Amino acid sequence: MRDVPFTRSLPGRIWRRRESMRADWDRRAKENAPFYVCTTGAGSAAAFEASGLRDLNEHVVDGLDVRPEWSVLEIGCGVGRLLRPLAARVARVVGVDLSEEMLRRARDYCAGLPNVELHVTDGRLDFLADGEFDFVFSHIVFQHLPRKTYVERYFREAFRVLAPGGMFRVQVDGRSRQVFRRWIADSWSGVVFSARELARRLERCGFRVTEIRGAGTQYLRATAVRPV
Ligand SMILES: C[S@@+](CC[C@H](N)C(=O)[O-])C[C@H]1O[C@@H](n2cnc3c(N)ncnc32)[C@H](O)[C@@H]1O
Repeated sequence: MRDVPFTRSLPGRIWRRRESMRADWDRRAKENAPFYVCTTGAGSAAAFEASGLRDLNEHVVDGLDVRPEWSVLEIGCGVGRLLRPLAARVARVVGVDLSEEMLRRARDYCAGLPNVELHVTDGRLDFLADGEFDFVFSHIVFQHLPRKTYVERYFREAFRVLAPGGMFRVQVDGRSRQVFRRWIADSWSGVVFSARELARRLERCGFRVTEIRGAGTQYLRATAVRPV
């Protein structure tokens, strides 16, 4: 995965695209991890915890029959904001993230939860076995990725690690009319997708798409199944 940096100014973004994506997220984690993970939940520890429960219920498991025996993978788990409440509901939760600094904080945040596992990734998930998960999800992560090929690589890996019949839920930025984003995409303002493109990319990785919602918004979400 090629590294792309974080900087807010447009010339800066273009100039610094070759620098480190991982370094950007490590820096954000050190600076103010709760803010960069969830701007609205960063006010206090209680608000942060509440934001995790709310987002889990409203954006990740809504409408799903979550089973206690499930093994679940989150791609881009940050400090474990969603993993912690999910760990109380399923047998095993695995979080992967690009940033070692985020994961360091996740180890604290999820301390004492024996069914939480955390791993660093550079875009590959080859340390996870084929078919070992019942549910894979990613929330507010791919909206930050600077290239669509990086997102699709995760789609392929999600397909591989899901058991047949397993489900993938993925959020991307759906404000695809913002065409300028193609040129300035970096590790903060990432790539954007139309609903049709999102479905097409999932299907070419082998998924059957069962639901798309939030077309045209930042919270474009697909639910897809690995066919049996
Ligand atoms: C806004 S935070 C969201 C964290 C978590 N999903 C949540 O909702 O609490 C985005 C996370 O994605 C991670 N991330 C960014 N690029 C990534 C990549 N290419 N692969 C894996 N994780 C990535 C960042 O390190 C950060 O922890």
